[in-house]
Amino acid sequence: MADPKKLFIKTYGCQMNVYDSERMAEAMGAEGYVLTEAAEEADMVLLNTCHIREKASEKLFSDLGRLKPLKQAKPELKIGVAGCVAQAEGDEILRRMPLVDIVVGPQAYHRLPEMARANGQAVDTDFPEEMKFDRLPERKAPRGPTAFLTVQEGCDKFCAFCVVPYTRGAEVSRPVDRILTEARGLVERGVRELTLLGQNVNAYHGAGASGDYTLGRLLREMARIDGLERLRYTTSHPNDMDDDLIAAHGDLPQLMPYLHLPVQSGADRILKAMNRKHTAEQYLRLVERIRAARPDILLSSDFIVGFPGETDADHQATLDLVRAVGFGAAFTFKYSARPGTPAAEKPPVPTEVADARLYELQALITEQQRAAQDAMVGREVGVLYEKPGRLAGQMVGKSDHLHAVHVTDPEGRVGELVRVRISASATNSLAAVRVG
Ligand code: SAH
Ligand code: SF4
Ligand code: F3S
Repeated sequence: MADPKKLFIKTYGCQMNVYDSERMAEAMGAEGYVLTEAAEEADMVLLNTCHIREKASEKLFSDLGRLKPLKQAKPELKIGVAGCVAQAEGDEILRRMPLVDIVVGPQAYHRLPEMARANGQAVDTDFPEEMKFDRLPERKAPRGPTAFLTVQEGCDKFCAFCVVPYTRGAEVSRPVDRILTEARGLVERGVRELTLLGQNVNAYHGAGASGDYTLGRLLREMARIDGLERLRYTTSHPNDMDDDLIAAHGDLPQLMPYLHLPVQSGADRILKAMNRKHTAEQYLRLVERIRAARPDILLSSDFIVGFPGETDADHQATLDLVRAVGFGAAFTFKYSARPGTPAAEKPPVPTEVADARLYELQALITEQQRAAQDAMVGREVGVLYEKPGRLAGQMVGKSDHLHAVHVTDPEGRVGELVRVRISASATNSLAAVRVG
């Protein structure tokens, strides 16, 4: 029998790309490809790209440059570009980089196997009627204890800085039965924690047996799956946090006490210019309601500093909001002007000013992150073991609050969900001992 062909995939960007890469790997698996960690030995290289900030999309061109010698040494090597840069700059990629064989946009992955079989350059950046997931093979690979599951794709919000509505297209929700079938299949193969994904996951409105389901209703349905011990979801928009979803955080023990809720800025002027359609005050009231439902919830967020027109007073308002909420973690980004977005037309904030603001905000958030971690010491929490630790008799996993935890537990097994007592807080992880 001939050696199987080898596929190397590099994934940039968000968790939805991680999920898509897995699905593409499985689709190519059905064509006889196995995954390799080494681009040098691959028969096909697939770059699953991100367009969100300028730096992210530039990486594609430098990586393609590095693939040139490989392609010269092995002309039959197939090079594919998938993801959001493929969608946004497909034609330019083919023009600038003749070594690329395949350009496939985020909604056309079901066509990848057929494109890989063909000779010559091929492009597909369509937004088909039927969702790609319903045309890709079912997930079959053996699994670790955690998995992503995309339930919703695309975005209709058009924040003034963001490319996602253009690269991923309009909001689409997968039907409830497909999601439940995929979830049950994953649980049968050892998954105990699912993170439901969507660019705007809490705008989920999928068709179900009895009408339309919201995300809250979908989570309640999923909590009934035997053996599925933990549920998370990301990323949410503040305006789509409805009462039932908030209540689910109090009602469902499987729904973990951690929520990523991007706010971007604490200044109403900037929120308005960003087209976020809520005020800082509304965000703070929302946080109160969420904490009333689940008092120990940890919140995380995304922030953009240096949005066009942002003044020092606006920046102070962001710091005030951060102080008022007290986040468990957050991502901070320096504004990056993206071609085709409305904000890119406006004069930018000077780089030095944006850098200084980024630094100040990051320092505050690091402090809060540290405080949230330290506050866990002495508490009893759940940990799902994901792998053995580096030290003998140690297991590593995530706590309910998504902290990385090292647990002393010589009997521990991957996939076990255990109770632990947190004994110490280090820079990026917690230490714990198993209880009970
Ligand atoms: N759908 C999600 C995530 C979008 S991208 C949401 O609405 O939150 C993830 C984060 O990247 C955003 O929350 C934002 O903080 C950041 N981001 C998006 N576009 C950006 C840009 N042009 N410059 C800098 N950061 C950006
Ligand atoms: Fe981008 Fe805004 Fe949509 Fe998030 S909600 S994906 S930031 S447009
Ligand atoms: Fe990047 Fe596309 Fe995700 S732009 S963040 S890979 S949706």
